[in-house]
Amino acid sequence: MSEPAKILVVFGTRPEAIKLFPVVAAFKADPRFLVRVCVSAQHRQMLDQVLEIAGIVPDHDLDLMRPDQTLDGLTAALLIELGKVMDLEQPDRVIVQGDTATAMAGALAAYYRKIPVDHVEAGLRSGNIYHPWPEEVNRKIIGSIASLHFAPTEVSRDALLAETVPPDRVHVTGNTVIDALHWVSARIAADPALAAGLAELEQRFAGKRIVGVTSHRRENFGGGMEAIAEAIHQIAARPDVAVIFPVHLNPNVRAVMHGALGDLTNVALIEPLDYPHFARLLSIADIMLTDSGGVQEEAPALGKPVLVMRETTERPEGVTAGTARLVGTDVARIVTELFTLLDDKAAYESMARAHNPFGDGHTARRIVELVANEIGR
Ligand code: UD1
Ligand code: UDP
Repeated sequence: MSEPAKILVVFGTRPEAIKLFPVVAAFKADPRFLVRVCVSAQHRQMLDQVLEIAGIVPDHDLDLMRPDQTLDGLTAALLIELGKVMDLEQPDRVIVQGDTATAMAGALAAYYRKIPVDHVEAGLRSGNIYHPWPEEVNRKIIGSIASLHFAPTEVSRDALLAETVPPDRVHVTGNTVIDALHWVSARIAADPALAAGLAELEQRFAGKRIVGVTSHRRENFGGGMEAIAEAIHQIAARPDVAVIFPVHLNPNVRAVMHGALGDLTNVALIEPLDYPHFARLLSIADIMLTDSGGVQEEAPALGKPVLVMRETTERPEGVTAGTARLVGTDVARIVTELFTLLDDKAAYESMARAHNPFGDGHTARRIVELVANEIGR
C-alpha cells in the first residue's frame, strides 16, 4: 500500500470550524490519509468554542487574531504565516472552506507553492462584490485556484460552470453544516446537559414568542447595524416577544448592540454560544432573525422561519424552499415582516416547514471519497 496522502486542513473562524470538523473527522478515520490541521485563529474565543466541542487539537495554531483587525493587516499576516506552515508540512493537498480571509489566503499560499487546493462550500455567489463584503471576492479568488470544487447544491455548481470551471472539477456534495448539525443533535440527545445552559432564560421568557438573533456582517457596520438594533428595539417592545441575541465578539457589533439594547427587559444580549447551545437556541426559537450565512442553512433544515437581514443572498435555496425571506436592513421592513410572522398563523406555517436543500448529512464522507478518487487511492 502506498504512503498516506498528507492533507492540510486550514481554517480560522467559527463557521469554518463548524463546517470543517466533520471533514477533519472523516479524513482522520481513513487510513489513506494523514491529516494535519492548521488554525489561523483569525477568531480566538469563538474558534476555541468549536475546537473544544469537536475535540480537535490543531497541529498548528497561528494565533493571529488582533482586536478590531483590518482586512489588509489580517490578510498579510495570514499569507505569510500560512505559507510557513505549508513549507514545513509540504502537504499533498490543502483544504479550505467558504470565503473568509483565512480560506482565501490559505488557497493563495498553497497556489504559490503549486499545492492543489480543494474547496469545501464552493460556488456560492451573490453577484455583487460588496454583498457580502469581502466574502464574494474571497470565494471568487478561491474558485479560480481550486482543484476540486465541492458545491453544496446545484445552484452553486451552476454558478461555477457559468464562470467556466470545467464540469469534471465540480461535485455537488451537500453542505457539511448539515453533517455538523446532525452530529451535534445526536450529542445533545445523548447528553442534554451539553445544551442546558439556556434553561434560566427559557424560564424567564416562558410563554413569550422567542426571536433568536445573530448579526455580524462587515457591510452592515455603521448604519446597517444601527437599523438592525432599532428594529430589535421595536420588536422587543411587544410584551409577547422575547429576543435572545448571542452577540458576536466583533467590537463593531458589540458597541452598537449593547448601546441600543443593553437595558431592555425583553432582550437577552448574551455571549456567543457554543455549538450545542446555539443548536438549542435554534430549536426553542419561533423565528430566527439573522445576517449569518450558516444560520440560513441550519434554519431550513430544522423548519425554522428565518428572516435574513440582507439585500441579496448567495444561498437562495432557503428562499426558494420558502423557509427563508430576505428583509434587508430597513427598520420598517424588518419589523413588519417579523410581526406578520408573529400574527398571521398561515404565514408562519407556510415558512415553518423543514427542507433539506443543503444535503443529507453525509457530505464529509463524500468529499473524502472524491479526494481519494482524484489522487488514485
Ligand atoms: C469573519 C469573516 C466572515 C465570517 C465571520 C464569521 C473575514 C474577512 N470575515 O468576520 O466572513 O462570516 O468571521 O463570524 O474573513 N473577535 C474576538 N474574538 C473572536 C472573534 C472575533 O474578539 O473569537 C473580534 C476581534 O476584535 C476581531 C474582530 O472580532 O478583530 C473581527 O474578526 P474578523 O475575523 O476579522 O471578522 P468577522 O467580522 O468576525
Ligand atoms: N453559531 C454558534 N454560536 C452563536 C452563533 C452562531 O455556534 O452564538 C453558529 C451557527 O450555528 C452557525 C455558525 O455559527 O453554524 C454561523 O457563524 P457566523 O454567523 O459567525 O458566520 P457566517 O455563517 O455568517 O459566516
